[in-house]
Amino acid sequence: MNAEDQFLEALIAELADHPVNTNPFFCAFKDARLTRTELRVWLHQYHYFCKHFVKALEGLLYRTPVDALDMRVELAKTLHSELGSGCSEQAHIRLLERFAAALDLTDEDLARTTPIPKVAHYLSELHRLFVDSDYLTALGSELAVEVTAAAEFRYFYPGLKKYGDFSERDLAFFELHMEIEDCHSAWLVEAVRKTAQDRRDLEQVAAGARTTADAWQRFWDGMYQEVFGARVPTTH
Ligand SMILES: [Fe+2]
Repeated sequence: MNAEDQFLEALIAELADHPVNTNPFFCAFKDARLTRTELRVWLHQYHYFCKHFVKALEGLLYRTPVDALDMRVELAKTLHSELGSGCSEQAHIRLLERFAAALDLTDEDLARTTPIPKVAHYLSELHRLFVDSDYLTALGSELAVEVTAAAEFRYFYPGLKKYGDFSERDLAFFELHMEIEDCHSAWLVEAVRKTAQDRRDLEQVAAGARTTADAWQRFWDGMYQEVFGARVPTTH
């Protein structure tokens, strides 16, 4: 393995070990029993994020230099997958809206979501990294998004199954993501491998990745406050 591959492997391991992957919101979501109101509060914010994230990804693809063909190909694969691989009813956001319907949230309810500051801030940070930064920083940012995305589903899917009152169809979004995030992260690793030419390029990729993973952690800290902040702490 050459020095560049070693650097990239170490970066992926660092992202996989980032504390965001085991943050307090994920643990509480899996272990606690959330009320319907708490689930709806979470879903409003999470749906808002998922919906607008894909638009940011479109912006990243547009801003990728014309000669960075391998990066464009891997990003296009990721975007195609997010948008349902050519079938709008299978677009991931539509699958998430199935679950919203199981919580009695309509499209109109979801359209009225106001993002909490930590969610709005994370999306604006992604916009800055994807669209206003250089393409290597942007590539690192999207690498971090995809490598860390696998973690939430290891908590959300069992966390939702424990209620026993959501059907497989309701939970399709979560079940699908248990597997598909491994594809997305493999595509992004491939994009970095074929795009970053030397150590300097990889340092830029790593800077974008670290900024994003840290911002993702603040997103979930904000979510914890929003969903669980009203609970009265139990005293022993
Ligand atoms: Fe997705």
